[in-house]
Amino acid sequence: MSISDVATERAPVSQTAPVSDVAKTPRKASPRHYAMTPPTFFTVEYAINPWMDTSKPVDTHLAMNQWESLRQTYKELGHTVELVEPVEGLPDMVYAANGGLIVNGKAVVAKFAYPQRAGESAAYAAWMARHGYEPVETHYVNEGQGDLLVVGSIVLAGYGFRTDRRAHDEIAAAVGMPLVSLELIDPRFYHLDTALAVLDDTTVAYYPPAFSDESRSRLLELFPDAIEVAAADADVLGLNAVSDGLHVVHPAAATGFADQLADAGFEPIGVDLSELLKGGGSIKCCTLEVYS
Ligand code: ARG
Repeated sequence: MSISDVATERAPVSQTAPVSDVAKTPRKASPRHYAMTPPTFFTVEYAINPWMDTSKPVDTHLAMNQWESLRQTYKELGHTVELVEPVEGLPDMVYAANGGLIVNGKAVVAKFAYPQRAGESAAYAAWMARHGYEPVETHYVNEGQGDLLVVGSIVLAGYGFRTDRRAHDEIAAAVGMPLVSLELIDPRFYHLDTALAVLDDTTVAYYPPAFSDESRSRLLELFPDAIEVAAADADVLGLNAVSDGLHVVHPAAATGFADQLADAGFEPIGVDLSELLKGGGSIKCCTLEVYS
């Protein structure tokens, strides 16, 4: 019998483990593949969501530095980051998540709700084609991973402000995955990725008031252990976060959410994207995850 066996016998795990044991589920990181578009041409020259105020100045240089620190964070975590070439005259192209949904070997390209962003579709489709995907178009509006979030083997799909609910069926058929439609009701949380964060294949965090009663019930049913965030964190777009299963890169101002993540066994990493918040987006908006 070794010393460690004795020690184990004397102090069985059941007696020493903290009461909140369940929350301390061991978390595991897995390497991810992301596409990001630098904010070279980022400005706020039109307002298509309540966060955008064309009278507030934007510091494009600062936006670039903040975006660069996000890219660096991913690299330090061991993830692959590919770059999409930005296009002049498309200031929102930095929000790469909206470019489409790449999963299950299929690439659905975005069809934007507002004409100001329409030109991005061709740019993201070209990027997909260059990477060996045949871009699939939808008839109805879909704003890519802004509204289409992969959780394990299902897709959670938002509607109410941007993505048309009728596009949900098109997308489910295109990627061959079951899809759950969720209705967004607060214009500040106009994309699903502003109201819900995917933390791993079975865990999400969300802000309940952003959803209709019916969708809230659906979320409760699907994810009884979900982290529910407070208004203070939702209001800084704290849920616009990206997780690798262990590390959760989140808007730095969402300090309450960071504490909840740590309590649940994740490692929160705050990154400040204050300039990009002026366009109504943050970490997740700037990150298109490529699932293969
Ligand atoms: N200004 C952009 C828009 O309103 C922001 C997009 C944010 N992206 C996101 N995935 N939530 O379309």
